[in-house]
Amino acid sequence: MKLGKVLVTSAWPYINVTPHIGNLVGSVLSADVVARYYRLKGEEVVMVSGSDEHGTPIEVEAIRLGVSPKNLTDKNHARVSALFKEWGISFDNYTRTENPVHKEFVQNHLMKIFNNGYIFVQETTMLYCENCHRFLPDRFVEGKCPYCGNESARGDQCDSCGRLLEPTILLEPYCVICKGKPVTKATKHWYFDLSKFSEKLSSYLGGNEQLPTTTKNFSLNLIKEGLKPRAVTRDVGWGIPAPFPGAEGKTIYVWVEAVLGYVSATIEYFRNLGEPEKWKEYWFDKNAKTLYFIGKDNIPFHTIILPALLLASGEDYNLPWNVSATEFLQFGGEKASKSQRRGIFIDEAIKLFPVDYWRYYLMATRPETKDSNFSWELFIEKVNSDLNDTLGNFIHRTLTFINTQLNGEVPQPKTLEKDDEKILEVLKEKVETIAKELENCKLQSAANNVISISRMGNQYLNEKEPWKLIKKDREKALNIIYVAAQIVKALAIISAPFMPFAAEELWKTLNLLGSVHEQKWDEALKPLTAKHKIAEAKPLFKKIEVSEKQLDELLTKVRENLKKT
Ligand code: MF3
Ligand code: ZN
Repeated sequence: MKLGKVLVTSAWPYINVTPHIGNLVGSVLSADVVARYYRLKGEEVVMVSGSDEHGTPIEVEAIRLGVSPKNLTDKNHARVSALFKEWGISFDNYTRTENPVHKEFVQNHLMKIFNNGYIFVQETTMLYCENCHRFLPDRFVEGKCPYCGNESARGDQCDSCGRLLEPTILLEPYCVICKGKPVTKATKHWYFDLSKFSEKLSSYLGGNEQLPTTTKNFSLNLIKEGLKPRAVTRDVGWGIPAPFPGAEGKTIYVWVEAVLGYVSATIEYFRNLGEPEKWKEYWFDKNAKTLYFIGKDNIPFHTIILPALLLASGEDYNLPWNVSATEFLQFGGEKASKSQRRGIFIDEAIKLFPVDYWRYYLMATRPETKDSNFSWELFIEKVNSDLNDTLGNFIHRTLTFINTQLNGEVPQPKTLEKDDEKILEVLKEKVETIAKELENCKLQSAANNVISISRMGNQYLNEKEPWKLIKKDREKALNIIYVAAQIVKALAIISAPFMPFAAEELWKTLNLLGSVHEQKWDEALKPLTAKHKIAEAKPLFKKIEVSEKQLDELLTKVRENLKKT
């Protein structure tokens, strides 16, 4: 399928803490795999995201640390940007919500909506903490969810049932800073009248064929339950100043501005390239596609709030073409928490094992249909059996055979036998299946299918035993090695979105020109030419030889060392 322009985006991580591997799996990492795939397909890909710097998660953390929010986000943005590079995340623009292009765009966009009559102002009462002298919006307050009874629902959302909340409807609310019981206090806020878009949103969602059914039904159901006006201003100091007349001292609700970051980051990217109008080709041309990778708690913001904000401008923005939401990756059945030392954070992970091991593990176990649990046991199994014993082993035995028996030269096939032809046919089918899965965001299956190609290769070698055959029937043995070498070449290309570093190393060992990441997906099925000389093969992966208990100890050590830096 030819798409043309593709904007690939991932949820902007709150930058109050370093993300853990569960934050990464469904957002940044999934987006990277798909962006890399579409680039190989020759599409014009732009991949954007950034640090979500505003909002109460940041302010709460800054208060806890006794630093200013800006000070906290400056430091963390720099660190996390560098970590994403180490993880091989191929952003075209990883920016931040404090960037001036974003702030200006958000203020202008909201004024458009205001002038179009979709924002109204209303006197209201909000929760207020008298100990802390502060209003308690969003994550400054927790309590019991009035819908599902979850005890630790936050002021803006319940993580248990996924519903959007308002602080005043929480049962038994308390201030997260001092744990005190808040009072109510009069104030004034600006509201975005979401209900005016119920019909348009329903028809957009209903007619979106890419959107996974669960995401679609969840979102349509929210509309059926009735969309309520959503406050877009907050009585907090940290954030983008609200642009409405009379709203001095108020800031914009973080979610309303962060989702607009997808647009502003595209604008900023093309401005920096000196093509200030080109962002419009991604946001207004109807054949451009926009793709969003998020965790399931972010669904309503991407299927309701973002589309509504785009519609309300009165401009003909492209609404999300696909929203791929993952379930949660948990640790010991619970959410990761740095303070409780639960989970694996992205800085720690790559001190333990090469990035590609993590990337493969996370994609091959991507929580697509239900929450999953991290375990060393499964990690060791995926690395040892999938990467080392299957993928790595197949590649290595093929290439060392060519190195040692054939002077490094890929053999020229004579007439291939039926069995050999069959293997090449199955290879072609599997490569096509993986492409379809990547296009449908079935990344877990796609990752496992890469391994299944090498599994087929291993079985083929085991059955045909070319190392024995070469003494009896050299021609047949060379045919087999020829076929195996074609599979290796295909593996270099199709593994590139998942394991960009190992794929590049393999490309170099195959002694092919340029970088694997500059190739075309179709190159996977183009044969290596006869007499093509490869370089000396080295194993791509190493077995993990330590126990789960030792890995826990190593993690603790890594954590302590990172604390010192
Ligand atoms: N920071 C949010 C979170 O971690 C995600 C924001 S996505 C965006 O849940 F679209 F708003 F940027
Ligand atoms: Zn308080």
